[in-house]
Amino acid sequence: MRQKEISSTKNSNNSSPKTNTDNKTFLADVLKGLSHHPQKTLSSKYFYDEKGSALFRKIMALPEYYLTRAEMDIFQNKTAELITALELDKAINYDLVELGPGDGTKTIHLLKGLLEQGYAYNYLPIDISQHALDGLADMLEEQVPALSVKALQGDYFEKLGILKSAQRPKVVLVLGSNIGNLSDAEAATFIRQLSDNLNPGDKILLGVDLIKPKEIVLPAYDDKQGITAAFNMNLLERINHELGADFDLSQFEHQAVYEEKEGLASSYLVSKTAQTVTIDGRSFRFAPGESIHMEISRKYNDTVIKQVLAGTDIHIQSRILDSRELFADYVLARS
Ligand code: AVJ
Repeated sequence: MRQKEISSTKNSNNSSPKTNTDNKTFLADVLKGLSHHPQKTLSSKYFYDEKGSALFRKIMALPEYYLTRAEMDIFQNKTAELITALELDKAINYDLVELGPGDGTKTIHLLKGLLEQGYAYNYLPIDISQHALDGLADMLEEQVPALSVKALQGDYFEKLGILKSAQRPKVVLVLGSNIGNLSDAEAATFIRQLSDNLNPGDKILLGVDLIKPKEIVLPAYDDKQGITAAFNMNLLERINHELGADFDLSQFEHQAVYEEKEGLASSYLVSKTAQTVTIDGRSFRFAPGESIHMEISRKYNDTVIKQVLAGTDIHIQSRILDSRELFADYVLARS
């Protein structure tokens, strides 16, 4: 399944040709990030070009990457519990919206379960990629012909804004720990923007990875086969191809770090030597051992969620864990 960044502005996997503006923003973001002192940084929202998306699909199948299988366990084996936790009314026709649905292999279990139990709803996946939506719609047409699907291509909040006035109660799925790439401040902003586009009583199903020992988390971000390293490195390759930079990939090394107490995984690319990289006529010097911060993967618990929701009109209704208690899908509601 193709999972994606939560940011509504990113241009992941978009099959349409990139506009000049997109590349200008990309260049500006890269130049700014590499100028950042003392820590150079690049944004993980740029990981998902075609090659990056393919590498991410490989990551999801890795033995070390437990997240996708754990959430699949919830959707596949705890479907009834999940439906009960949503506290829906069979007399109401819902809009079941999904932000960045990927290939739907998790969601399909919920969709089937709801239909079997006699709930009325339309399924509205929202994605920036029309190609991804087409694939999903074809799969659902074949697997769940009774389902009403209305795919919406574009920006999450723009599409939710349009749906808001329809006044049908909503359930919004934000699965796959996609919120994990955001800092807590960014996650709070995301929730606030989401909430602005909901009506009182609407619900959110939010999938998050749980804080757990580093023996489990670190290998998920530093796999034996080096797929995660290649995923990280691909952004340098993308900067070379799309922005004409001259990163020498052999001179950087992937590094994953996990602060277990805080529940924060981070990934870096570390320069093996003293070197200079040139992008658009600008030079960036690297000392030996100097790193570029590439990505955060935030892990959650009730305390972290409550911090992120503080000051918003979204509250926790319940949560469902997988059988190994690695991952949680929180049912949130708008007051
Ligand atoms: C798509 C944000 C859920 O952080 O686990 C996987 C992305 N990065 N391996 C995650 C990712 C490196 C992934 N999310």
